[in-house]
Amino acid sequence: MSEPILIMGICGTYDLDSANGRMLELLLDECRKLGAETVVWDHGAKPLPLVGADGSWDDENVKEFQQLATSSDAFVLSSPEYHGTMSGVMKNSLDWLYSKHTKGKVFGLMSTLGGQSSNNTLNHMRIAARWIYGWVAPEQVAVPHIKEAFNEDGSLVSDTIMERVTSLASSMVSNTTKLRR
Ligand SMILES: Cc1cc2nc3c(=O)[nH]c(=O)nc-3n(C[C@H](O)[C@H](O)[C@H](O)COP(=O)(O)O)c2cc1C
Repeated sequence: MSEPILIMGICGTYDLDSANGRMLELLLDECRKLGAETVVWDHGAKPLPLVGADGSWDDENVKEFQQLATSSDAFVLSSPEYHGTMSGVMKNSLDWLYSKHTKGKVFGLMSTLGGQSSNNTLNHMRIAARWIYGWVAPEQVAVPHIKEAFNEDGSLVSDTIMERVTSLASSMVSNTTKLRR
């Protein structure tokens, strides 16, 4: 039997105890149920410097982030929408990835919003992922009105949004399995 696929979660906030950290947890739980292995980069514990900042090219966290990306078969990005686009943390994470780490690998996209639903952040991450030669899954998840989106136990209030999470997980696992070299 072949090795399980490894899916790397990248959060658009420093704190994994955030709405986007929780969305990654929900999505990756579903991926594990389908046989995948998962890992999440923790920006709080291992922040990435801004690309080009003093010392950034030799930064140990950057090296580790890129090595983990190289050994991963797929990526799931979850970002808050900030001023109509992805957060700076997400953009800077993507700026540290080049096609040598990501080419031919599947990307799944999720976004959370304080206000009403929008595809801006999803579309902008789709463009960036294409630029590093990723195959972006057509299934995607936007979570509007984020302050009211979760129950006390961390589950999603909306069954429809949870169905989208399940469908994204299934697409990621099946397409990554097909595309993995
Ligand atoms: C600087 C900033 C800009 C924001 N811009 C938007 C926006 O354009 N549209 C929106 O719906 N929510 C906006 N929000 C709300 C965030 O999307 C919301 O707080 C976030 O999705 C919560 O996720 P988190 O808990 O992972 O941080 C903004 C929040 C901040 C801090």
